[in-house]
Amino acid sequence: MNEKIKNPSVPAGFDRVDGRLKVTGRAKYSAEYNIKGLTYCVMVGSTVTKGTLTAVETKKAENAPGVLAVLTYFNAPKVPGYQGDTPPPKGPLRLFYNDQIYFNGQPIALVVADTFERALFAASLVTATYEKSLHQTNLEANLANGFLPNNSKDNIRGQEDGYKAAPIKIEQEYILPTEVPNPMELHATTARWDADDKITIWTKTQGIKATQRNIATAFKLPPDNVHVIAPFVGGAFGSALRTWPHEIAAALAAKVVKQPVKLVLSRGDMFTSVGYRPRTWQKIGLGASADGKLVGISHEAIGQTSAYENFTEGVVGSSQLMYACPNVTTRYKIVSLNVNTPTPMRGPGEATGAYALESAMDELSYALNIDPIELRLRNYADTDPASGKPYSSKYLRDAYKLGADWIGWSARSQKPGSGTEKGCLAGYGMGAGMFGAYRSTATVTARMTADGILVLQTAVTDIGPGTGTAMATIASEIMGLPENKIKIDLGDSSLPPSPTQGGSSITSTVGSAVNDACKELKDKFSQLGGAGQADKPDYAKILKDHNLEQLEVTTTSKSNPEMSKYAGYSWSVHFIKVLVNPATGVVKVDKAVSVADCGHVVSHKTTRSQMIGGTIMGIGMALTEEVVIDHRYGRLVNNNFADYHVPVQADIPQCEALFVNKPDPYLNPMGAKGMAEIATVGVAAAVANAVYNATGKRVREMPITPDKLV
Ligand code: MOS
Repeated sequence: MNEKIKNPSVPAGFDRVDGRLKVTGRAKYSAEYNIKGLTYCVMVGSTVTKGTLTAVETKKAENAPGVLAVLTYFNAPKVPGYQGDTPPPKGPLRLFYNDQIYFNGQPIALVVADTFERALFAASLVTATYEKSLHQTNLEANLANGFLPNNSKDNIRGQEDGYKAAPIKIEQEYILPTEVPNPMELHATTARWDADDKITIWTKTQGIKATQRNIATAFKLPPDNVHVIAPFVGGAFGSALRTWPHEIAAALAAKVVKQPVKLVLSRGDMFTSVGYRPRTWQKIGLGASADGKLVGISHEAIGQTSAYENFTEGVVGSSQLMYACPNVTTRYKIVSLNVNTPTPMRGPGEATGAYALESAMDELSYALNIDPIELRLRNYADTDPASGKPYSSKYLRDAYKLGADWIGWSARSQKPGSGTEKGCLAGYGMGAGMFGAYRSTATVTARMTADGILVLQTAVTDIGPGTGTAMATIASEIMGLPENKIKIDLGDSSLPPSPTQGGSSITSTVGSAVNDACKELKDKFSQLGGAGQADKPDYAKILKDHNLEQLEVTTTSKSNPEMSKYAGYSWSVHFIKVLVNPATGVVKVDKAVSVADCGHVVSHKTTRSQMIGGTIMGIGMALTEEVVIDHRYGRLVNNNFADYHVPVQADIPQCEALFVNKPDPYLNPMGAKGMAEIATVGVAAAVANAVYNATGKRVREMPITPDKLV
């Protein structure tokens, strides 16, 4: 490893603007608004996996101390907006809407009491009877029931399954188990009706405006009568992309008891309430000429969905795009099982697909006896293979080089099982990733106040990546202000509209609006005189000289139409060195580096932190994370953090994030592309490939637990 390879071209950047509030406990999350008259909700889940609910025994619970209500299908008032649109089994789950049980743990009752403890006790007294039917929860046992979702079809470029004609080919199957985007902060909703037709809701969400619209639709309210507040979100990874049934249930409960309610999901509830990365079976066929040129790629995937919604994700899409290859066939199906609906979890589809594709590329590199980086360089796509368009920017070659140099790739042997270190088998692996570079529409207000503080306002939530910090950084450069002169207001539906935080698009989208608003504001000051040229203008003095209380602009920024001429993607490559104990089969990641071509890095500290988080998520995918279902009962076995293993500090090695840091000329004024998803896409394959390099054992079902190696 070369310690000198840092990030010479990237400035250190601001500290997290909300870091102090977070570490001192002053940042308030959705479960922490202890408003007047607050009552407490606890959910009761179904103990069967499929069937019809015939009765819920609520009397004991209702008679328990402090209990205000027990809502079930049999007594709950109707949610007004639930009439008319698509109900289950062909639409989103609705609590207390019908008597059908679609999965184990599906909420069948909600207890409201004057304290949390009393609600929890009363919930333990609720029992139910069911007419059970035969459930299906096993993906591999149901692959034959896979169907093409939503009128989709197979995607064929060139010859169908053209890989089969190549002189060198590999064909392999891979399984990625269900993983949960289970963040530290439990999902929570605090709901208060301020009038019959007016509600304030503090809820964990990635989309403030989407939540506002969804609550308004459910309760048939004008959107302006729904106030959604979420200034801090403690991680989400896709789990808060939707307005979930429990949020509607909390609002309904508050209506019933005529008091504000708080519903905090238990850690167990989280596993069945807020989605997951779906278990997926994949098959890859790769064919190449003896000199390592890809002749064909075939990628087939079957993922699981619930019995009431067709959840799909782009598992096979990147296989059409990642490499220059004339014959590419991709097929994608889903299987309905008695499980809750998945959600787009970080790198949704891409992370699953890249695990298989990048594993298969590694297998091909051994079949050809060509270095895995060299194999990728021989098939490097200089234009988008699907559309033929030029890239808006692509510096993946630079990323390969940076990462290989950092990890010390030249020390790797192409012969598996030949490296030893500290009594362990040592090996190196790599895997690459891609994700679309997006930008949509956002509105930002930039206001200079009389005391020279710049206030930036928009509705977006910051789920952890450091959106506010990126906004402050962009504003600071334009306005010539230090970070302590910039105040960020986020996470409130009364602020100017912004899209849902997701899809690696928010720095691009909201950052552009900050850029435009600050430039306009600066122009306004220029027109007043005195602010245009100077490096650090005294805005407070200019306002005072002109007898102004404040100066503000509100600007809406939209995507650049020029982008339609280009294929816009972010790229990443991950390098992993593992040490495998030959006696125990325990895999220890020794070193990890992820390198991104994500355009210009706006905010170095938060971007690096987010990148390392993505690497760790990928290490979890490869080594420890798996939701286990006992298929006899259809019940989750490990719906807690003691048995579902996310990597902890001791699992994480020396870990670095590097950035090519060359601006994209078209996507947005900052030259930034997204990096949230690419931080995870490709990591799991890099780990599996390193394990193979170390041991000669190819594990094709994640996670690589020790039993699979000894
Ligand atoms: Mo996401 S999967 O961009 O929350």
